[in-house]
Amino acid sequence: LSGIITLDPGYKNSGSCKSDITFLDGELGILRYRGYSIEDLAEKADFLEVSYLLIFGELPTTKQLAQFETDIRKYTLVNEEMKNIIDGFPKTAHPMGVLAALTSALTAFNPKSVNVENEKEMYEAVCKTMGKFLVIATWTYRKSMGYPLNYYDNTKGYVENFMRLMFELPTEPYTANPVVIDALDKLFILHGDHEQNCSTSTVRMVGSSHAGLFASISAGVSALWGPLHGGANQAVLEMLEEIHRNGGDADKYMAKAKDKNDPFRLMGFGHRVYKNFDPRAKIIKKAANEVLATLGVEDPILAIAKKLEEAALEDEYFKSRNLYPNVDFYSGIIYRALGIPTDMFTVMFAIGRLPGWIAQWKEMRENKEPIGRPRQVYTGHPLRDFVPTDKR
Ligand code: SDX
Repeated sequence: LSGIITLDPGYKNSGSCKSDITFLDGELGILRYRGYSIEDLAEKADFLEVSYLLIFGELPTTKQLAQFETDIRKYTLVNEEMKNIIDGFPKTAHPMGVLAALTSALTAFNPKSVNVENEKEMYEAVCKTMGKFLVIATWTYRKSMGYPLNYYDNTKGYVENFMRLMFELPTEPYTANPVVIDALDKLFILHGDHEQNCSTSTVRMVGSSHAGLFASISAGVSALWGPLHGGANQAVLEMLEEIHRNGGDADKYMAKAKDKNDPFRLMGFGHRVYKNFDPRAKIIKKAANEVLATLGVEDPILAIAKKLEEAALEDEYFKSRNLYPNVDFYSGIIYRALGIPTDMFTVMFAIGRLPGWIAQWKEMRENKEPIGRPRQVYTGHPLRDFVPTDKR
């Protein structure tokens, strides 16, 4: 029963919530989606299967999974006029900013998705979001490279389509590498949901006003962008590259991370809930070794990451504060080996977290939860008399 919290009757206004979707125990380093361990799901399931589990509550039968994939494929075509929006961005725009804007713009082309009144409309909104989000996420990269925007190929799988949408060129067809597809499946699963983290609680908060699913997801994308949250995977790689450029001196950066006068934090370390190893970090670390070995990639950054991790795990400052590697510490190393550019790492996190955001939004709406309204402790001035300008 560890981790079952008792909700005070006022919880409806406290910003916390009840949910059947994800259970995590920060002391024991446990993470489960709808009761299934993350270790089992990462090893035995694929991303669409886990997306179905998160959103609809049960692992799908073969028939249900095939139907889900067919229904997503109905919505993988994005309105051509969306290209006018992406054309308005400079090539240097950060992909997360473009993705947040495009996701919100989907409402304009799918107005019915705002008021989801019944199960059929909810299912349609779910499939539309799963289908269109993946495409526009890759368009952010294609735009930054000046490449033509690709279309989803309904004859190929969801994760393989991601790689095609990203890298296929008119002059160079994409050939799927099963090692890459398998690694991405696992990474997307590991990012699937994580109870009431910053971006998910943002999606629930925005959705609680009965804003549509696309608008709520767009808000979640913006929250995830921050370097203290999903943006950490990009910040980890930039930190490791800087250490590598400066001769690989991990101790210097450890000292910076402990110096209270230095704003530098060891990115990819620490967590609001896990005061033990993030179970996802363990799986991703193992996958990083396997993927790099299978692809024959020698990445000095991996060696630096391991050196930093070993130093931190032995260091009193980190041990006394229960600071362990989190989901973001090793994921960027795999993305890099797969050819994903650094500024797309947080977009990868968003693609993985999408089914969790959808599941949490759907649960909140189906439970007819009241509009979110956290209260505060007022610490400002007591009542004061007004002072005319000439007396101030
Ligand atoms: C994600 O919530 C989720 O579930 C998020 C997530 C998900 O799946 O949605 O798991 C994804 O966002 C993972 C976290 C990614 N962020 C980073 O890796 C950025 C680096 N880490 C941090 O900035 C920090 O650890 C946070 C933001 C994750 C947590 O910040 P807190 O809550 O302020 O950390 P804390 O209260 O546990 O800190 C305790 C102490 C403090 O020092 P003291 O005041 O006690 O002296 O530890 C220090 C902090 O300054 N500390 C760090 C540190 N993280 C905390 N010191 C150096 N390096 C760090 N990374």
